[in-house]
Parts: sequence; C-alpha cells; structure tokens
Amino acid sequence: MTRAAAPLPAIPPDIVSAGDYERYAEKMLDPRILAYLAGGAGDEITLRANTQALEALTLIPRVLADVAGGHTRLTLAGEALSHPFILAPVGWQKLFHPQGELASAQASAVMQTPFAVSCMATETIEAVAGQGGPVWFQIYMQPARADTEALVRRAEAAGCRALLVTVDAPIGGIRNRAQRAGFALPPGMVAANLPPETAPPALKPGESAVFDAMMRAAPGWADIAWLVGATRLPVFVKGILHPDDAARAVDAGAAGVMVSNHGGRVLDGAPAAIAALPAIAARLNEAAPILFDSGVRRGSDAFKAIALGADAVMIGRPYIWALSVAGALGVAHLIRTLREELEITMALMGCRTLADIRQSDVRRP
Ligand code: FNR
Repeated sequence: MTRAAAPLPAIPPDIVSAGDYERYAEKMLDPRILAYLAGGAGDEITLRANTQALEALTLIPRVLADVAGGHTRLTLAGEALSHPFILAPVGWQKLFHPQGELASAQASAVMQTPFAVSCMATETIEAVAGQGGPVWFQIYMQPARADTEALVRRAEAAGCRALLVTVDAPIGGIRNRAQRAGFALPPGMVAANLPPETAPPALKPGESAVFDAMMRAAPGWADIAWLVGATRLPVFVKGILHPDDAARAVDAGAAGVMVSNHGGRVLDGAPAAIAALPAIAARLNEAAPILFDSGVRRGSDAFKAIALGADAVMIGRPYIWALSVAGALGVAHLIRTLREELEITMALMGCRTLADIRQSDVRRP
C-alpha cells in the first residue's frame, strides 16, 4: 500500500482552507489509507456530530469595537505560545508523506507550534525533537510500567515540553470504514518508539478477547497518578468527556485535561466533543487548563471552543490532509491559515485577546 500520488512541490493557489486540503488529499491518497484517516467508529455518528455541533454554534458579531493591538498569545503549562493551535498526535505519518513525522516537525519548528508526537509515530522521538520545534509526546500506557517509564525518560531527554496521556482508547474502536476498505499497515511499517509487538497469549475457550485479554492490560487511575509522579513534565490527560473524569484527572495531578472524542474514532455514540466542553469547563472552574479537539476545521471553530471554555485547540485530520498534499510546507501554510482565520473572527467579534473570547456572544442552538 502506498500513499498513491507524490506530495506537491508547491501549494496550488486554490488551496485556501483546511477543506481545500481535504479535497486534494482525497484525490492523492490510496483509498485504503484515506479510509483509515477519514473514518470514525461504527456508523460515524460521533464523527459527524463533531463538525455539525461546531457548525450549529452561531457567532453574534460586535461592531465598532477597538481591537487595535490585539493578539492570539497565551501561556500554557508555563510555555508562551503565539497562537492556540497545536498539532494533535496522529500515528503512522509515513502513510501520508514519505518523511512522515519529520515533515510535521519541520512545520512545527517554523511556525513555533507545539507538535504532539504520537506513541505510534513512525519516527523516533529524538529525530522529531531534533527538528527544533516545540514537541510534546503522547503516551499510551504500556502493559509493563518499565516500558512506559522508558518512553517518559526518552521524551524528557529529547527535550519534550509536555506529555499527553491518551485514556480514551484502551482498545481500538469499531472501525468499519477502514475494515471495509481493507486497510492494513504496510509491511515494514513499525512504531519507531515501541518495543517489537509480541503475539498475545491464546484465549481459552469461552474467554473474551476484550475482557480477558486487551482490557487486562489497560491502565487505571492509579497509573495516571503514577505517571504524574514519574516525570517532571506537565501531564495532560487526553480523551475526557465527563466532568467527573475531568475532576478526577486534576485530582490525580494532571496539569490539564483534553476534551476529545479522538476525532470520533473510538466510541460511536459519544457526544460531539464541543457538546461536552461547557460542563467540563464549569466543573473545573479554571482549576486547570483545558485543551480541546475533534472537529476543528476553521479558526472560527477554535474561537467557539475557546468561548465555551477551552484554552487551546488541537487539530488532527486537517494537518494530515496538508501533510499529504504538500508536506511541511502544507502543514505550515495550514497553521498560518487557521491563525489568520482566528484573528479575523476575533476582530469581527470585538475580541482583542483570547481572554475576551470568553465574554463573546457564541450561542448554542
Ligand atoms: C488519531 N488520533 C490519535 N490520538 C492519539 O492520542 N494517539 C494516536 O496515535 C492517534 N492517532 C490518530 C490517527 C489518525 C489517522 C487520526 C485521524 C487521529 C486522534 C487525534 O489525536 C485527535 O484527537 C483527532 O484527530 C481530533 O479530531 P479531528 O481534528 O481529526 O477532527
């Protein structure tokens, strides 16, 4: 399986938004890879809900406001950022571009945008961090703590600024679109940071592959507290949709929580992530920063998420479309485009700073 067409050397002038990158990527990627990238879990109810619920929010503009000298700056976990967009962890990036994560890392360095490297990356943490951008590392808790600890030490030594522990996918979702398309990782594509996979022990008659195998090795809350204690890096807990879980993550020592449904890829029927955000923001009441993803396609979507309580947003599929189409250049162009869209939305909404967005008039249907 190959990605189909080679990435373009320059950005075509008719690519002016994330959606334009999507249309190009749909033509350029192998249909099986596209099914893996685009698809959600089950009937994709949650996948659709993510974008629909963002679209349904309305922005009431504020005219004649003085926003001269405004900006999109923020401080997150002690880091000064020039805008609130972060590249979400997306595994197996060599499926989408020959340079994989290195191309995303180059864009992150040029744009000074944090790049959360996936635990399932096809490049090493060290090589990605070596590109010079602000890098975070996303961890899936490994069955053996020693393996998780080894990843943490490597992320620290490589200069990663934060850890993101993903808790919403202890087992894979029901990914029917990718199954129907016949998606499988190409031979030789391995997770560059993980020990080689070993075959799981055979099930005894009557045993469940879910409860007697996969979920036996799944992490629990004690593991989150352990992870927080095992590193000097801030730990964000990714994949929270319930206010009680958000509060529990903060109690366990998390530096922040990430409201996300994994881009609709794990539990179909979960709410749109944006629908879950207000209750979580109310529960945390500024006790810890909130990151948000799942469905962000425009600067105005980031505005809406910030209005409903997020401090920053991550983008997943959109930068992978840009990566597939035009590599590092495409990812950098997409980040700049989203930032400009956010600035224009802020100006038209009468907001000088991200803090002003919380007071803005975003209406829920
Ligand atoms: C993901 N996501 C993900 N999350 C994670 O914590 N570790 C991972 O390895 C991956 N891998 C991955 C692969 C692909 C192809 C996709 C599309 C997504 C989820 C990702 O971090 C993020 O939560 C969603 O992509 C956000 O939704 P949008 O922006 O794609 O709508």
